[in-house]
Amino acid sequence: MQKVISYISENNDRYIEELKDFLRIPSISALPENKSDMNNCAEFVAGKLRDAGMNRVQVYQTEGHPIVYGEWLGAPGKPTILFYGHYDVQPVDPIELWNNPPFEPVINDGKIWARGATDDKGQVLVHIKSVEAFFKANGSLPLNVKFLLEGEEEIGSESLAPFIAQNKDMLKSDVVLISDTSLFAKGVPTITYGLRGLCYMEVEVIGPNKDLHSGSFGGAVANPVNVLAQMIAKLHDKNGKIAIPEFYKDVLNLTKKERESFKKLKFSEKKYAKELGVAELMGEKGFSTLERVWARPTLDCNGIFGGFTGSGAKTIIPSKATAKISMRLVPNQDPNKIAKLFTKFFKSLAPKSVKVNVKYLHGGYPVVVPLEHKAIVSGADAMAKAFGKKTVFMREGGSIPIVVDFVKNLNAPAVLMGLGLDSENLHSPNEHFDLNHFRLGIESSAYFIDEFSKD
Ligand code: BES
Ligand code: MN
Ligand code: MN
Repeated sequence: MQKVISYISENNDRYIEELKDFLRIPSISALPENKSDMNNCAEFVAGKLRDAGMNRVQVYQTEGHPIVYGEWLGAPGKPTILFYGHYDVQPVDPIELWNNPPFEPVINDGKIWARGATDDKGQVLVHIKSVEAFFKANGSLPLNVKFLLEGEEEIGSESLAPFIAQNKDMLKSDVVLISDTSLFAKGVPTITYGLRGLCYMEVEVIGPNKDLHSGSFGGAVANPVNVLAQMIAKLHDKNGKIAIPEFYKDVLNLTKKERESFKKLKFSEKKYAKELGVAELMGEKGFSTLERVWARPTLDCNGIFGGFTGSGAKTIIPSKATAKISMRLVPNQDPNKIAKLFTKFFKSLAPKSVKVNVKYLHGGYPVVVPLEHKAIVSGADAMAKAFGKKTVFMREGGSIPIVVDFVKNLNAPAVLMGLGLDSENLHSPNEHFDLNHFRLGIESSAYFIDEFSKD
C-alpha cells in the first residue's frame, strides 16, 4: 500500500488540474441548451476511465443524458466494487451571487471553487484516481472494479433506473461505493448509513378566468394567492407535525440506540443557527435538530408564485397561483403512497370558490443500510486510516434515490463514503470542495480497495 499512497501524494497537483478540466464543462442536466455539454462531459469521463486502466469503457446513449460505464475484471475469484457517481450538476442561478464564474474553477483558501466541485465531480474523480494509482504504482488491482456514472442524478435518474434493471449481470458486484454525501465535520471520517426519500408535488389553485381589477372585484371572488397561502399553512399543525392524515403511518421510529449515538456526535445547535444566519432553529417538537433532519419526514414549500411579481405595484386579483411542495421521507414511507395522501388532503382543503390541480413531479425511496455489514466496516476502517481518526456514522437529510435500485437489483450493500461538507454550497452560489478532503478521499478509496480485497 505504501507505494500506492506515495503515488497519490506525488500526483496530487496533476489530479487538481484534471479536476479543473472536469469542472470547466457546464454539464447542467436540467437545461436543454446544455445538451451538447452533457455529451462532452460523458466523453470526458469515459476518457478518464480509459486513462485509469478500465476496459470495455462505453458511453451509453439514453432518452435523457448518457450513462458512462467501464470495468476491469482482472482478478477472478476476488470481490467486485461498483463505483457510482454523477457528472451532471445543478443550474447556476442566481449567477450574480458567484464570486467567480461557476465554470472557471479557481483555488483559494485550500478549496476549489466551481459548480459541481463537491456535488459530485470532485467526489467522482476521487475513485477514478485511486484506481489509476493502483495501476501506476502496482501494475494491477487486488480486486475487480466497475464504474457507473450518470448524467441525470440532479433530475431524478430517470434513465439509470431501467438501465440497472436491464443490466444486472454487467453490474453485478459485492458492494456499491458512492461518494456523494457529506462528512459530519471538517476532517472527520464519516460513513452515512441512511438517506431520506423524496416526494415532489406541484399544486395549482385556480380562481377567476382572468386577472381582475382588485378594486372592481376585490371582495367578490376568492383570491387564489390568498387561498393557496391558507392551504399551505394548514399542512402543518402547531407542533410542527405534518397534518396529512396517515402521513406518519409507515414511519419507523428512531431506536433508543440510534438517538443515543446521534447525541454523542459533537453538534452545537447554537453554532449551526449562527452559521445559517437565523435567530432560532425550528421544526417538529420532541426531536433534536439532527433527528429532525436525518430521521424524521418533513414538508417544505420550495417556491410559490402567481399574480404580479414584477417591481412596483399592480392592482389585480390573480387568476391563479402555484406552489412547489416537496416532502423528505424516511423508512418505510413510500413516495407513491405519500403522493396520493397529499393529493387527497390538499384537495380537501380547498374552498368551493377555487379549482385545485395537484401533480406528482417525482419521487424517491428512503434507505437505511445495516451497519453490521462487512462492506460498511471496511469503509469505516479505510477512511479512519486515511484521515487518522475514528470514523463516525451518520444519516443524511438529502436524497440519492437510485441507491434503492442498487440495493434491490444487485442485492449489494451501498457504502456512502461522502467527502463533501454541508457548508460547501451544493446547489448554491460559490460551491466549493476542500482539497484536503479530495486527497484524503483518494487515499480512503485506495485503502478501501486494499481492505475489501482481503476476503
Ligand atoms: N449529492 C446530493 C445528495 C445530498 C444532499 C447528499 C445533501 C448530502 C447532502 C444529490 O446530488 C442531490 O442533490 N440529490 C437530490 C435528489 C433529487 C434531485 C431527486 C436532493 O437531495 O435534493
Ligand atoms: Mn450529488
Ligand atoms: Mn445534488
